[in-house]
Amino acid sequence: MPIRTAKHAGFCMGVQRAVNEAMKASRQFGTIFTIGELVHNPQVIHQLEESGIRAVETPAQAAGQTVIIRSHGVAPEIYAELNQLFCQTLDLTCPSVERLHQTVNRYSADGKPVILVGQRDHPEVMGTIGWCRGEVYTVSDVKQAQSLPEMDEALAVAQTTFPHEAWETILPVIRRKVSQLSVEDTICKATILRQNEARELAAQVDAMLVIGGRHSANTRKLFETCQSICPRTLLIESIEDIPPDFADIHSEIIGITAGASTPDWLLKEVVTRMTDKEQMDQQVPAEETEENSFMADVEATLVKIRPGQTVTGTVVQMTDEEVCVNIGFKSDGLIKRDDLITEDVKMGDEIEVEVVKVNDGDGNVLLSQRNILKRKAFAKLVEKFEKDEYVEGVGKEVVKGGLICDVDGIRAFVPASQLSNRYVEKIGEFIGQTLTLKIIELDEQKRRIVASRKAVLKAEESTRKAEVWASLEEGAVIKGIVRRLTDFGAFVDIGGVDGLIHVTDLSWSHVKHPSEIVHPDQEVEVKILNLDHERERIQLGLKQMQPKPWDVAPQKYPEGSVVVGKVVRITTFGAFVELEPGVDGLVHISQCATTRIDKVEDAVSVGDEINVKVLSIDPQAKRISLSIRALLEDAEPQKPAKEAKPAGPEVLEDIVPVDIEAVGKQLEEEAQKEEEAEAAKQEKPEEAKEEAAEEAPAEAEEPAEKPKAKKKAKAATEEKADDAPAEEPEA
Ligand code: F3S
Repeated sequence: MPIRTAKHAGFCMGVQRAVNEAMKASRQFGTIFTIGELVHNPQVIHQLEESGIRAVETPAQAAGQTVIIRSHGVAPEIYAELNQLFCQTLDLTCPSVERLHQTVNRYSADGKPVILVGQRDHPEVMGTIGWCRGEVYTVSDVKQAQSLPEMDEALAVAQTTFPHEAWETILPVIRRKVSQLSVEDTICKATILRQNEARELAAQVDAMLVIGGRHSANTRKLFETCQSICPRTLLIESIEDIPPDFADIHSEIIGITAGASTPDWLLKEVVTRMTDKEQMDQQVPAEETEENSFMADVEATLVKIRPGQTVTGTVVQMTDEEVCVNIGFKSDGLIKRDDLITEDVKMGDEIEVEVVKVNDGDGNVLLSQRNILKRKAFAKLVEKFEKDEYVEGVGKEVVKGGLICDVDGIRAFVPASQLSNRYVEKIGEFIGQTLTLKIIELDEQKRRIVASRKAVLKAEESTRKAEVWASLEEGAVIKGIVRRLTDFGAFVDIGGVDGLIHVTDLSWSHVKHPSEIVHPDQEVEVKILNLDHERERIQLGLKQMQPKPWDVAPQKYPEGSVVVGKVVRITTFGAFVELEPGVDGLVHISQCATTRIDKVEDAVSVGDEINVKVLSIDPQAKRISLSIRALLEDAEPQKPAKEAKPAGPEVLEDIVPVDIEAVGKQLEEEAQKEEEAEAAKQEKPEEAKEEAAEEAPAEAEEPAEKPKAKKKAKAATEEKADDAPAEEPEA
């Protein structure tokens, strides 16, 4: 035998809230009072009384006490009276009723009439009348509506529990009476749902049980509705009211519904009694007739819920703080406004919610919509974690050891060490910033996420490096920024990677320290000399961007030209004159003056800037022969023709021949001394040396070490010896 129980049966949100709050208040204050019965149900009234909640008729009966305003609401005068009687008031007016009060109060502010459709003696109607400031007409049927006077304008509203069908029948009659009628459908949607469902159920069953208090208008209307469709409808207040022969439970379908003032336990009790009755009648164990079990049928019609479950429900009540959602469970669910994500939610909307608690301690199911979002967001993060994808997070707060970021509504912890690839001094500077993060740890159970920005930066850096490396070619010329200088060279950023210009590649002339040529942040154009992919080292050249001085020297210093130079060194056989960095020429002692001199110093000193004439130039051998004497002679008045020297190679009669071996030896000694002096000058503290030694291999391989002092001296000697013979033909 099938049993069908209405989904929307039992306590409505308004009544449930009133009962819960009243019980809570009684635990806190002891005996408390209600103006009129809190619920129109004798069993519940009895229970409330046992808990110290007493009903009184007038405020005066509860003077100085804690008084509850029940869900029906009261007129403003009652509040004033309670105030005068020093009562502490706990207002549990149902939000829907409160809205009705505000509607009529607003409309009638300037005395306009209100037509209130409802039972005149119903407490809710009586209370609402008190909120109207002009004339009020109450009608409960078509006949009464017909007897309304003709009016220019009026507002039509209804008692929240008035049957919607009846309202729709009365309304057209009212329209005919009022020229400008404003209408507000104030009927509680929970009532509409309950009545519609009861109507549908009554049409499908052979017999109906309507559970509720006989004094409850709401229950009476429900009973009348069901009875009009299913004649075998019975209104019961308790299980004792069910007659033994009410229905043939073996063959008939029975429907059960309950009024808004019927507690869940009573509904269950009726169902259980019917089950027992069937079992006794059949004398068959319940387990064997599971299909026919009353409870199974009831359970089948009631949704089973558990925390964390996502269910779809219908919005049946709304207040400023909460929304009541019918989820097909024995109790409706409550969802706090700030836990709601559906915008513009309306009565009757179907919304998806998550069960947070089956019972919040007051008998309500606690729901959340935001949790669904969070769960979905977390699932997406799990997916991204598994796919190694990045996420976006906004820095929210600094905590011990790191930063909390909001990643799609989920809190993620970024340890301080993972905030950057450099040391972070002030974590707070990331608050409010959107950061690209990589999830490095995720605990689904604890819903814990640890993320890293450093990992993202490192990956970006290596991608950038790979791109730069792919674009580099040996011999190419590129621009870069000098980042830092060391004793052995300058590091240059060439678009995300650093290359080294060794000190020897900075200039064609001798450089003691890179700072002589470049400085940090300077933009330079450099040539890529070598790419070591394996060790990720790039060797750059700056001097290679300029022509070799000796390559252009013939054009700059042609034979016979007069140039300015600086005496940089003096030897026994002559003076070395620097024409430009890296290009020195020799003024042989015989070319230092027009007359014979004993030593070079008699003509010039180191540091002198002098004019010299270029006698010859050999770029391959890097030799330039210079002459002061030739210049002086050019300036002297011409000698008589007979004294003129014959054309052809110039012969300097007064020049003493140079002993080339002696010059070479002398040069070698001088060079060695010079090297030793320079080495002593450049000697650095131990730490600096170590640092340089450590740094050089890490960044870039330092080109081959400078020649040993002796070797260099020898080379210098050779070079200078090479220079010397250039003068020999003149001797
Ligand atoms: Fe309120 Fe509707 Fe119940 S008006 S008291 S929720 S029936």
